[in-house]
Amino acid sequence: MLALVISLLAAFCCAASARPSPTYPLNTFFGEDDSPEVRSAAIKRLLEVFGMEEPPHIQGRKQPPQYMLDLYNTVADVDGVTKDPDLLEGNIVRSFFDKLRSEQVEYKFNLSTVATTEKVLTAELHLFKLRPQATLAFNRHHFCQVSVYQLLDTSRVNNTKERKLLSSRLIPVHSTGWEVFTITQAVRSWMSDESSNLGLQVVVRTLGGNQVDMKLIRFASGRNHHQSKQPMLVLFTDDGRQSTALESQDPSDSIATASLLEAVMSGSPSRSARSLDNGEEDDESSSSCQRLPLYVDFEEIGWSGWIVSPRGYNAYHCKGSCPFPLGQSMRATNHATVQSIINALKLIKSVETPCCVPDKLFSINLLYFDDEENVVLKQYNDMVAGSCGCH
Ligand SMILES: *[C@@H]1O[C@H](CO)[C@@H](O)[C@H](O)[C@H]1NC(C)=O
Ligand SMILES: *[C@@H]1O[C@H](CO)[C@@H](O)[C@H](O)[C@H]1NC(C)=O
Repeated sequence: MLALVISLLAAFCCAASARPSPTYPLNTFFGEDDSPEVRSAAIKRLLEVFGMEEPPHIQGRKQPPQYMLDLYNTVADVDGVTKDPDLLEGNIVRSFFDKLRSEQVEYKFNLSTVATTEKVLTAELHLFKLRPQATLAFNRHHFCQVSVYQLLDTSRVNNTKERKLLSSRLIPVHSTGWEVFTITQAVRSWMSDESSNLGLQVVVRTLGGNQVDMKLIRFASGRNHHQSKQPMLVLFTDDGRQSTALESQDPSDSIATASLLEAVMSGSPSRSARSLDNGEEDDESSSSCQRLPLYVDFEEIGWSGWIVSPRGYNAYHCKGSCPFPLGQSMRATNHATVQSIINALKLIKSVETPCCVPDKLFSINLLYFDDEENVVLKQYNDMVAGSCGCH
């Protein structure tokens, strides 16, 4: 039903842009008096665009891991737009906190929120190394070997717990800060068989191979140390969502998305059209195809509880007419040029002028809490109109 409304809008939008009017065409559908049903249906549909069925339920505001905040700021600008598509391999980064909170150096992570369609690219165990306790500080060891093992269930065969070495490294005894171990193999096996997830174990040895007192090499645990130093699993995956090549893309899709955003943000026209433009609307040229602001405010949609960053983003929208003759600034395709000529010559009735649509799209990044209160960074393709053209 809503899909129908949106596709109707798409058709209407392009037709309307051929005859620019001072009032916004969508207001006839989603005006001041639009029904709450339409708005909530539109918000639900927008949630689907972000790959979710229900908004995550978050109780109270938690502090996201600094690593995830830093990662977000590395890949995204202030508006959430991807700085460089090659910075991140894959399109999802998930962080998990240790569920065991054990006194021992054993860790377990619940990966139930990872979709089976996600391809595991890299998994890392992040441990915060604390300073050695003062009484032991003058130890003769300067380095020790820290090894991470995957615990294996061999109890069905014999009653011993076997383990598999995942990663091992020399670490200075007196260092402090984050140590990162690659544990991709283990996570892949847990993904294929959830019940095989018995967790991880860390073993510290001297260079001679003797096991070291864990008071000498200490890692922060969720139980005894500040939240910012909790053991964490960071998982890089790709869920196979591809960027739709613009050439093969149905332009009405982009218009539908813009219409959807208009519907969602219609409560406040002033905000949805938050003026990044310089009063262009009054210009002579304002009626021709151009890119205009369309700010999507997550707080206004009621999503600020679970979205950490950004607070909103400028999706932009394309608006205006594409009459004959199409100038260079219209970035017209050859097809659009021919269509505008046919339309101008009225050779064939029912041939409209071309549509003003996005011809370059950028991806955005969302940093959010999922239902399990894990912090997730996800990249979404084709969310921001980079430029508009007559197509
Ligand atoms: C992981 O979390 C899910 C969702 O909360 C829960 O149903 C499941 O039992 C958990 N698995 C383990 C092994 O704790
Ligand atoms: C226990 O079983 C595992 C796997 O079959 C085997 O590699 C290991 O040697 C066994 N350990 C003992 C003590 O028998």
